[in-house]
Amino acid sequence: MNIVILAAGMGKRMQSALPKVLHPLAGKALLSHVIDTARTLSPTSICVIYGHGGDMVPQMLRSDNLGFARQEPQLGTGHAVMQALPQLQDDVPTLILYGDVPLTRSESLRRLLDQAGGDKLSILTVNMEDPTGYGRIVRDNDRIVRIVEQKDASEQERAITEVNTGIMVAPTARLRAWLSTLSNDNAQGEYYLTDIVARAVADGVPVVSAQPDAVWETLGVNSKVQLAELERIHQRNLAYRLLEQGVTLADPARIDIRGSLTCGRDVSIDVGCVFEGDVTLGDGVTIGANCVLKNVRVGDGVSIKPFCHFEDAAIGAKSVIGPYARLRPGTMLAEDVHIGNFVEVKNSQIAAGSKANHLAYVGDATVGSRVNIGAGTITCNYDGANKLRTVIEDDAFIGSDTQLVAPVTVGRGATLGAGTTLTKDAPAGSLTVSRGRQTTIEGWKRPVKQPK
Ligand code: UD1
Ligand code: MG
Repeated sequence: MNIVILAAGMGKRMQSALPKVLHPLAGKALLSHVIDTARTLSPTSICVIYGHGGDMVPQMLRSDNLGFARQEPQLGTGHAVMQALPQLQDDVPTLILYGDVPLTRSESLRRLLDQAGGDKLSILTVNMEDPTGYGRIVRDNDRIVRIVEQKDASEQERAITEVNTGIMVAPTARLRAWLSTLSNDNAQGEYYLTDIVARAVADGVPVVSAQPDAVWETLGVNSKVQLAELERIHQRNLAYRLLEQGVTLADPARIDIRGSLTCGRDVSIDVGCVFEGDVTLGDGVTIGANCVLKNVRVGDGVSIKPFCHFEDAAIGAKSVIGPYARLRPGTMLAEDVHIGNFVEVKNSQIAAGSKANHLAYVGDATVGSRVNIGAGTITCNYDGANKLRTVIEDDAFIGSDTQLVAPVTVGRGATLGAGTTLTKDAPAGSLTVSRGRQTTIEGWKRPVKQPK
């Protein structure tokens, strides 16, 4: 099939400079949701009709096998589909989607396509308790005869609760012919796509309908309120999918997934966590409250305590991280690593069994196995111009409040005394310390306040 996605509308009620269809839902543009769903149907072609916001839409979403057609000015949904005609193949049907209706499931679209066959006009309809604003499906003895828009409808027609979702499938050659006969002689002065229904009936082309499983699949975004509502519906769906897979969620209403979250068995996630990009959690992972994970791979049995922030990082099995830990891009932790509170790690590899449990900065470092990094340790990795590396070999012990001025290497099994400022390599197996010797001044007296 051909797929046409209508996305030229202006979205005035969003109160935003960004074209409506580029606003994110679950971290991804509304229109990208529609394109991704369209792609699951393996169409012959996809054509996005854009207009409002200039070239921003094609610029931001340009990709392989995606066509664009500009609609300027925007004279209605029928006029929008006309812009796609040069890109449509006549021997396959055309599916019309809306760029601001992000949650339609492919199953519902397949049902609609099955109904259409190659030769029928098929409309996705729903029954709404309050159909205000929608085009109504007018039937005569059950047969659809036309669609009437809210603004053109009579009192009687407005009482109809079956509405046009806007999503439909048409035989392409017929669609071409029908569109050429549209007029804008209606309440809105627009070329209505919906007028093709009456044309089909006049031509003796059967008009059929299909219904989605849920009404939310057909809901569009016109305002920030509706965007927030659809975000919640989508997040609830994602959360329930996780629950069905056996993931424990402290509260399915308090998790946000903006990308893909893949979980092993017996994963448990506390409230307030946000997952962005691609996140993979191994078996038995537990995540405490209020953590943000973006593009992270977490090994089996890892325990993440509350209030952690990770980005572009990998965490080895059985590690214990947090609370209040920050893993920045390029962090690679091996098995059984402990990163504690107020520890920041960036672009560093830390090998198995090593620990940095309190208040440390480990940046541009290669840390061996079973290393202990004491509280307050800082790798001084930046000289104001260049980033430089610190190497800490296996079994080293870094005393508290140590500065490692890179480039510098701490040899295997070396010990650094607390408070050391290391500017030269520390030899393996020895104690290195750089601090003034401790002295006690005999007879020293604390000053006392002089009487006035
Ligand atoms: C349309 C339908 C109505 C249906 C409703 C479902 C028509 C005439 N009416 O009404 O039957 O119940 O959707 O939400 O089709 N667009 C363009 N170019 C234009 C006009 C619109 O690309 O010139 C796009 C919009 O960006 C939007 C979609 O088409 O994605 C629908 O446009 P909108 O103005 O929201 O249509 P409605 O009046 O709500
Ligand atoms: Mg309109």
